[in-house]
Amino acid sequence: MEADALPAHVAIIMDGNNRWAQLHHRPRLAGHHAGADALRRVIRQAIVRGISTLSVFAFSSENWSRPRVEVDGLMRLFEKSLRDETAALVEHGVRIRIIGDRSAFSARLCEAMAVAEKATCRGDRLTLNVLANYGGRWHITAAAQQAAQLVRSGELEPSMISDEWLSQASPLADCPDVDLLIRTGGEQRISNFLLWQSAYAELIFSDVLWPDFDEIAFDGCLNTFVTRERRFGRTSEQIKAQIC
Ligand code: IPE
Ligand code: IPE
Ligand code: MG
Repeated sequence: MEADALPAHVAIIMDGNNRWAQLHHRPRLAGHHAGADALRRVIRQAIVRGISTLSVFAFSSENWSRPRVEVDGLMRLFEKSLRDETAALVEHGVRIRIIGDRSAFSARLCEAMAVAEKATCRGDRLTLNVLANYGGRWHITAAAQQAAQLVRSGELEPSMISDEWLSQASPLADCPDVDLLIRTGGEQRISNFLLWQSAYAELIFSDVLWPDFDEIAFDGCLNTFVTRERRFGRTSEQIKAQIC
């Protein structure tokens, strides 16, 4: 695989944990635990392939509506994974950042997030964005509110609110736009994920349930990505003329 043809930023909607658990006659949380193992494999493979940014959807703002035991179990798993994995992330040069509205999380979980972010902040091989209590609309709304406040205080002219301004107001401002968005589990929807950053992403919907997603499945998505012609509004002829 040629490194320069690969995506710089891969985003994943890790879906299918509960169906995996049902299929294996296991409790729901077993599916989420198996999903955490899959994430570990994919992080390693992203490093092998030289991907610079990996963003994963861990918990949506809509997921609070799930049964209480599942939500509590997910929170415990999140905290445990952060504590258990930090040393390995540091060893592999991974910088982790948790992105989303933290106000609904427990103090213990917020502390585990802060500790993991601080310990890994020097990682320079892979930036891992974990989107938790996140929704794409929340994100855009927060940027709009920030702009409105700056306009009110006279620090910003409305005409200065551009595509670039809104991008820099995002917590992902230092990451390239999403090149490849993968959703596992067979559903073909975005579910309020990185709406702004995925404006021109290539989309791949995989039928593989997230806990079964492995290095081979990840490489398969990268192989599909490199066959796509990204035109960004231009014609195929223009793109080919540029390459030659
Ligand atoms: C994704 O798997 C994990 C989270 C939403 C936290 P699901 O739990 O949605 O699994 P399915 O889609 O119901 O199989
Ligand atoms: C999206 O999965 C959120 C995560 C993967 C964390 P869901 O399973 O919650 O998505 P919908 O609601 O079925 O679209
Ligand atoms: Mg689901």
